[in-house]
This record gives sequence, structure tokens and C-alpha cells, in this order.
Amino acid sequence: MSSPSPSGETPLSHRDQGRSLRHGSRLDSYVDAYAERTLGMTASQIRSLFAVASRPEVVSLAGGMPTIASLPLDVIGDRIAELVRSDGQAALQYGSGQGDPRLREQITDVMRTVGIAGHPDDVVVTVGSQQALDLVTRIFIDPGDAVLVEAPSYVGALSTFRSYQASIHHVQMDDEGLVPQALREALAALAAAGTRPKFLYTIPSYQNPAGVSQPLARRREILEIARAAELLVVEDDPYGLLGFSGEPPRALRADSDDGVIYLGSFSKTFAPGLRVGWALAPHAVREKLVLAAEASVLCPPAFTQMVVSRYLDTTDWMGQVKVFRELYRERRDAMLQALTAHFPPGSHWTRPDGGFYVWLTLPEGLDSQAMLPRAVTARVAYVPGTAFYADGFGTRSMRLSYCYPTPERIDEGIRRLAGVVEAEIDLVATFGTGHLAGRTGLGLPAPDLT
Ligand SMILES: Cc1ncc(COP(=O)(O)O)c(C=O)c1O
Repeated sequence: MSSPSPSGETPLSHRDQGRSLRHGSRLDSYVDAYAERTLGMTASQIRSLFAVASRPEVVSLAGGMPTIASLPLDVIGDRIAELVRSDGQAALQYGSGQGDPRLREQITDVMRTVGIAGHPDDVVVTVGSQQALDLVTRIFIDPGDAVLVEAPSYVGALSTFRSYQASIHHVQMDDEGLVPQALREALAALAAAGTRPKFLYTIPSYQNPAGVSQPLARRREILEIARAAELLVVEDDPYGLLGFSGEPPRALRADSDDGVIYLGSFSKTFAPGLRVGWALAPHAVREKLVLAAEASVLCPPAFTQMVVSRYLDTTDWMGQVKVFRELYRERRDAMLQALTAHFPPGSHWTRPDGGFYVWLTLPEGLDSQAMLPRAVTARVAYVPGTAFYADGFGTRSMRLSYCYPTPERIDEGIRRLAGVVEAEIDLVATFGTGHLAGRTGLGLPAPDLT
């Protein structure tokens, strides 16, 4: 039973809210059957954008797609054909729920590059690290449980947490990632409310979407705070090997065997289409993860695991990572140069030292969500900042990806975007902020982004 709110009205239950939201739509006939958890499931702004952003005339700075064209595709094709011929009976068969033992060993070699001395027994291979995120959330979160999450954070993680009805509490970041003092304060505020968060979700290296990285001293401080508070840390590290200078940053998990679940992926260092990722978890947690994985997919695909395993065994995979680093460094440079050359004063942005993303904050009074239709009309796309917050923040910000377009296209895209921002500044100066929503910069109807 729901109790009356302070205003005297009886609040709608989740299901009733869903009913009223969907009233009149073709989904009405199913609305009584949906589980409550589906109310947190809405199409991400990134997915809605894909259709528009993939038009050839649009420079997409929206998606985070790796540049697969730089892989030796003919060599990989030959290896895959050879795999099916020589080992097809295993590659096309069901496999272990925990993942292929040989690949799990190789994964421990990969993790050594970020300082982790893990054991293959503690590795669970997953369908991308997205499934690892899903499994971790599934085994720890009951509806209403609190999780601590950087602000802003990865859209896919927010969707997962929402789908398990977690209560998301953001923790502030600055140019060096998660702010330790903000973490202390978030823990104290939750403790004062009698709540203990189930875990902290963090992306310490080349964060998505902010592009910032935690320096070593900060990583140690965060681990110390987590240890003192007995707070589990979920460390998501798909970009750790894609730094542009120096050695890969040391993972949090390298200095905490028991307090950190580490999530890794071959999506950015090899190919996302294979959907191979992993979790390295303390032993007892590993067991639960395997049971959850078996309940979900029986086992990760033997075929794609063996493709990754052969690739690691037979190619200079680290050489290919260096090719990716060089490619993305050049594109990062192109984006930063274009921003400096074209953008009007009053905007500021992060300067990533690795990964795929720049986080840009617009001049006061501008709204990146309201501006998006006008940007698409000007043939450039980005992801509005609000996608990366659970609480509606981020209206002045946007994520810009440099991983996919060529340097020339990046320059063109930023030039177009700067033009939209300048027009927007003029509109705000003339009409005030209330006049922006729903208008397009060129007097055309706003494209449908839904
Ligand atoms: C921070 C972060 N975590 C996880 C993922 C999911 O990666 P995967 O392809 O391994 O599922 C992504 C993908 O963009 C990401 O940026």
C-alpha cells in the first residue's frame, strides 16, 4: 500500500506510473504484465542517436565505436577459417559457464600489463564487459539498494543499475577523476541516512564519458577510503591499455585482492563484435558470478572466445594495441586542436591522455539537449550530458568521441558544432534561455530523434 505524500496526495506506485505513462500507446495491453524493473528501462539517448548519426552526411562525434578498419582483417579471416577447420568441434560446441580455461589464462597475462597478478580460477569470461556489469549488479543489488557512481558515468552502467532498481548516488569528479573527499562525504551522508551502499562503480582510467584518469596517489586514497568503509569497488577498465603517454595506469585491483571486482574487455583492444569481456573477482564472488552467468546464457560463446584466444596466441596483439593508441592519439590531437581553433570563449573541455572521449561544457545558459536537433540539422552529432547522469544534471555538457571519424572529419565536425554554439549564444543573448527548446538553428523542424 502506498502512503499519502506530504502534499496529501497518494503517490502512484511504479506500476501505476508506468500505466499512466503508457496510456493510449499500443503497449497498453501488456502494461499490467510487465515487471516493475522494466520501468527503469528506456532507450538510451545514444541508441536513439545512432540512426541519425549514421547518415553519411552527419559527422558523428556521438558513438564510441573503435576503428576496426585498422585491424589486419585478412589475417584474422584466415585464422578464423583455420580455427573452424582444425578445432571446429570445440569452437562450435557448448563450453564452460566460467569460460574457456586457456583464454582465462591468457586474460591473466593481459591483466599483468595493468599490474594485476590474478589467477585464472578467479576469472569469469562474459559476453562483453557489459554482461559482467549485469552479473555483478544481479548478484549484489536488491531493489532500492544504493550504489555509488561517478558523475558523469557510463550510460550502459546506469542502464544496468536502473534495470535492477538500484538507487544511484553520484559522486563528484574533477580533472583527476573521482574526488576522494566527495566519496567520504557521500559515504557519510548515506550512513547518516542509515544506508550502506553495495558498491562503488568507477572507471579510473580514461573515463567514459569524461576522458579523465585518476593519478596513482588518488587511486591509493580511494582504495583506503573503500577499505575503511568496507565498501566493495567495481573497477571498469576497458580503456586502460589505450593511453597516449607512458605506461598503462596501475589498476585499483592491483593493490586490493579482496576489495575490488575488476572488469575487462577485448572490445577496445581487439573487436567489440566478438563480445568477449571478463570479470576478475574474489573467489567466493566468482562462484556466484558463474552461477548467475549460467542462469543467463549457459556459457559464453566458445567460438568467439577461441577466436580471441588464437588471436592472442598467434599475433602481436600488443603491437596492434600500439597501432590503436597511435591512431586515437592523432584523433585526440585533431579534436583538441579543432576545439581550440573554432570554439567560442566560455566553453571548456577535458584533455584526455587516453581512451575515446572529450567532455565539453558549453557557455552559461546553453542546453546541449535542446541544441541537439540544431546540431543534427548542421550535420554533426554528439551525446548530450544528461545521458550520463541519473538525476537530470549535465544539461550544459556533452560527450564528444574522437575514436571513429578521421582527423579531417573531426575538424569539420567541430567547426560545424562551433557554428551551432555561436548561433545558440546569439539566440540566448537575444531571447533568453526559454526560447531555445524545440527550435532549430536554421528555422527547420527539429528532426525526430526518438
Ligand atoms: C566504461 C565502459 N564499460 C563497459 C563497456 C562495455 O563494453 P563491452 O563491449 O566489453 O561490453 C563500455 C563500452 O563502451 C564502456 O565504455
